[in-house]
Amino acid sequence: MDDVRKTYRGSPIKLLPKIWQHSVNAFCESFADISPELVIGQEKYIMKVRRYEEIVVERSLKPWLFPNFIFNHSKLGESFQELAHFMWPFINQLMDLKRKIFSYEPDLSDDHLRSKPYLNHLFGLLAERKLNENDVSAELQNMIVAGTETSTYALCFTILILAMYPEVQKNVQKELDSLFGESDRDPTLEDVNNMEYLERVVKESLRFFPPIPFVMRFIDETIEIDSQVFPVRSNVIIPMMKIHMRPDVWPDPSRFDPDRFLPEEVEKRHRCAYMPFSHGSRNCPGWKIGITGMKINLSSLLRVYTVKPVLYNTIKEIDLDYAILMMPKDECQVLLEKRNKLVVNSSDSNRVQKVKTQEAYVN
Ligand code: HEM
Repeated sequence: MDDVRKTYRGSPIKLLPKIWQHSVNAFCESFADISPELVIGQEKYIMKVRRYEEIVVERSLKPWLFPNFIFNHSKLGESFQELAHFMWPFINQLMDLKRKIFSYEPDLSDDHLRSKPYLNHLFGLLAERKLNENDVSAELQNMIVAGTETSTYALCFTILILAMYPEVQKNVQKELDSLFGESDRDPTLEDVNNMEYLERVVKESLRFFPPIPFVMRFIDETIEIDSQVFPVRSNVIIPMMKIHMRPDVWPDPSRFDPDRFLPEEVEKRHRCAYMPFSHGSRNCPGWKIGITGMKINLSSLLRVYTVKPVLYNTIKEIDLDYAILMMPKDECQVLLEKRNKLVVNSSDSNRVQKVKTQEAYVN
């Protein structure tokens, strides 16, 4: 947000690259326990990750490129290898920084391990020789992408939707004003838990646009569902995005309605009616962090700015770009309008009083 606040000059802004970079920095700080100021190359890294994924998808659509020998000698294969040369140094940089910071002998007691940020924990396992260097690098790479790219795209979709639904956005801002008033303090965990309406908005937006729109599963025993047989050893696609649009489960599915996620409404649905984080033993382990992070980021943005649409005025106009993950093609282009903050008296949330924007929010 600081970056946006300092640089925004009133014309349409593409928020996607900024949000992704911010997510990578937040990952360095919270998961890797490394100050992001020490890290270089975030921007290049995210661009390479996306191109890497595009190549994976392109290859999957060209069966003649399936054999490694042919792929490695193709133009696409060469680009793929070049990208890998760019991506791994970023991970190695984090590993090197961690080694320097983590020069003390790790305390391997249970309590200490449990309280350790993710990368410190992996280094503990490295010290115990339960993992080797390659395992740790691969885990780190996997977690950075799984944790930052998904949340970035989910945030971008939510921002685009809020821009086209001013009433919903106003309700979110009312909720935020009732929690923060005139203060520009950081949110606490209690604040985040109290952002109930915002959470419903996030969930409804993930219903329309789960950044991972489908997952695949290999069937290890024959299954029969509604007289449809899925034979053993077959691959099936579970199309979450399509399930989220089933009119028998989601009445009037194309209507954006956060109140579908009121507790009494959720209770009425099957637990697999909604699966932006997949379901079962390989579901997303980071779902709670994902939703919490989205609430924190959206609240920071919407406490200061009102977002306005640029290219899309309705949900169905949003162009989608797909490369393993789904993102909005316009890279989340919006206009930002500095807010006149609304202060809601919590004892009477109908009495809304306009106050001047705080000095702190002015560039
Ligand atoms: C809105 C944000 C997020 C969404 C929509 C999302 C969605 C998903 C989905 C659908 C899967 C399952 C893939 C499958 O079943 O094959 C998955 C897996 C995974 N997610 Fe997330 N995720 C999000 C945020 C995060 C965060 C913040 C982290 C880490 C901090 C994370 C870490 C992972 C990991 C490590 C896996 C792989 C799990 C495995 O293979 O067993 N995700 N995510």
